[in-house]
Amino acid sequence: MKELNQYLNEHKQRFLDELLALLRIPSISADPKYADDVRTMAQATAQHLTDLGVDQVEIFETAGHPIVYGEKIIDPKAPTVLVYGHYDVQPADPLELWDNPAFEPIIKTTENHPQGAIFARGSCDDKGQFFMHFKAFEMMSRNNSLPCNVKFMIEGEEEVGSAHLEEFCKNNKSKLACDVVLVSDTSIIDNETPSLTVGLRGLCYMEVEVTGPNRDLHSGVYGGAVPNPINVLCDMISSLHDSKRRITVEGFYDDVEKVSSKERKMMNEAPYNEKAYMKDLQIGELMGEKGYTTIERTGIRPTLDVNGIWGGYTGEGAKTVLPSKAHAKISMRLVPDQDPKKIEKLFQKHFEAIAPKAVKVKVTALHGGQPAVVPTTSVEYKAAEKAMEATFGKKPLPQRGGGSIPIVAMFESVLQVSTILMGFGLDSDDIHSPNEHYGLFNYYKGIETIPYFYQYYAELKQKSK
Ligand code: BES
Ligand code: MN
Ligand code: MN
Repeated sequence: MKELNQYLNEHKQRFLDELLALLRIPSISADPKYADDVRTMAQATAQHLTDLGVDQVEIFETAGHPIVYGEKIIDPKAPTVLVYGHYDVQPADPLELWDNPAFEPIIKTTENHPQGAIFARGSCDDKGQFFMHFKAFEMMSRNNSLPCNVKFMIEGEEEVGSAHLEEFCKNNKSKLACDVVLVSDTSIIDNETPSLTVGLRGLCYMEVEVTGPNRDLHSGVYGGAVPNPINVLCDMISSLHDSKRRITVEGFYDDVEKVSSKERKMMNEAPYNEKAYMKDLQIGELMGEKGYTTIERTGIRPTLDVNGIWGGYTGEGAKTVLPSKAHAKISMRLVPDQDPKKIEKLFQKHFEAIAPKAVKVKVTALHGGQPAVVPTTSVEYKAAEKAMEATFGKKPLPQRGGGSIPIVAMFESVLQVSTILMGFGLDSDDIHSPNEHYGLFNYYKGIETIPYFYQYYAELKQKSK
């Protein structure tokens, strides 16, 4: 590992410059206007793999954005690690809230990143993180110390629900055969407190439309007598939580896994400073389900949130109008063992049931994903734990992540393998927000840690035979 550290030191600047070049490509998967940039990003990703000497590099077309694949088989008897990541990014808007243009990366220090952080869309989620795996691979292969077979699968549709990845995996089971999936697309607690993500929430994302009168009306002539769909929608939305901030959708909690008091106690021992958390967000108080701490509310409890709401007049100045329609996008984060399909039906039924006769409602499901849990007793987990301990000098804490990576459950069901979530971001890195950033410390720490995972994994796998 000494050689690898020396290699990392010698090539630090280039490792950074290469990432910065990738961050200049606006590979926004949600917006069709950027389809060419998404393709350019796929080509750049594939080119990196080719330049690294990876074999079978190919850009696989899908009905959506392409999937980049490549592999290095050193020994059919050695364990195989499948690295998954995503090269697509979230839209950058609202653009005016960025301190630098989202696709013109700059490096600045912050309170959490005294050694500097790269500010750009995708720096942390997930270009900066998947690219650590490319550079770790470079270090190992240039030093002839690659102990495992590696397969890379980097997709371009994660931020829009990975619609075509499942089909690709089902059609390419033998190509993707592996012993473990390794993903860096999550966070650690802080730069002094390493952690491994041992759970992800699922997702059920709905859109609702409420229709009142058949056309927009003068709000003076008709107002007061005719149902205003925006007013009605607001009433309906506010009834979705009770006074304890529990979700009122009939049957919503039926399948929620009961977490033991021992596990709850353990998760609450992780460092967390409520005052600092509120100060960072500039909020006067926290709000959430009664009887649970912040760590529990974001880790083991489900949520229901309005992500967007619109209707009526939203332009400059005032227009007196009683609108015909109102809309909202509503997401529910799910926990084990809630099923997104089942929740979708429960939500639809509930939302239709609470609608007053005065309006018509239309409920549509946009996308969903299964929650996931990662066992902490596996050889894979032990290898990741030892790897982080080697580079941070501290054993990582197991932590449930609040976000979702729906394909993790799919890897389990389609490829029959478990996933290790060894991410290096911070929750405060503003992913999906303006001024997304990724610490230089975190980028280099990831590159340094990944080869240890390979080494320990190969050793532990050998022993367990
Ligand atoms: N990398 C995130 C998920 C994440 C972030 C997990 C931080 C844990 C900690 C991923 O790119 C993401 O944003 N996922 C979406 C899922 C969706 C688009 C289906 C999410 O969580 O909203
Ligand atoms: Mn991500
Ligand atoms: Mn994301």
